[in-house]
Amino acid sequence: MSAKPEQFTCAVLTMSDKGACGQREDLSGPMLQKLLGSLGYRVVVSGIVADVVEEIRSTLCNWADHKQVDLIVTTGGTGLSPSDVTPEAMREVIDREVPGMAEAMRAASLQKTSRAVLSRGLAGIRGKCLIINLPGSERAARENIEVLLDVLPHALDKMKGGTDDCGG
Ligand code: MTE
Repeated sequence: MSAKPEQFTCAVLTMSDKGACGQREDLSGPMLQKLLGSLGYRVVVSGIVADVVEEIRSTLCNWADHKQVDLIVTTGGTGLSPSDVTPEAMREVIDREVPGMAEAMRAASLQKTSRAVLSRGLAGIRGKCLIINLPGSERAARENIEVLLDVLPHALDKMKGGTDDCGG
C-alpha cells in the first residue's frame, strides 16, 4: 500500500523580518498550512521568525528534534537580499541534502518566471525530518510546493525506513 499524507505530521515556518514584528501580514504561511491540511497532513506547529540565522536554526532544530515533525516547509528568505539567510541556516541544520527537490522546483518555476533562478532554497533531511525551503511570496510558495506534492508521501515514507516499491 502506498504512503498517505495522513500518516505524517508537518510544520510551516515563515522567515520574514517584517512579519516577525507585525509590520506585514503573513499570507504564505497560512496558505501552506491550509493546503497541506487539505491534503491530509497533520499540521502540528507553525510560526514566524526574523531573517536571523540563529533564530531559524534553533526553530528548525527544535521542531525536527523535539517535536519530531516529519516535514517542515519554510517560506521566505531564499533570495539575494542581504537579509535573506534561509539557505545559510539550512546548511547548519541538515545532515543530508536532497538536491533533486530544489532542482525540480526551480526547473518548473522557470516555465513561469525567469526570476525562479533567484531562489536559493534547499531541501534536506535532519534526522527523520524533511525540510523544504520555498520562496516568500504566496504565489511563489504555492507554485513551488505544488511541484513536490506528488512525491512527498513516498519521500517521507522512505525516510522512515518504509519499504514501499519505488517502481510505482
Ligand atoms: N518561483 C516561482 N514559481 N514563482 C515566483 O514568482 N519568484 C522568484 C523566486 N522564485 C518566484 C519564484 C523571486 S522574484 C525571488 S526574489 C526568489 O524566488 C526568492 O524569494 P524569497 O526571497 O521571497 O525567498
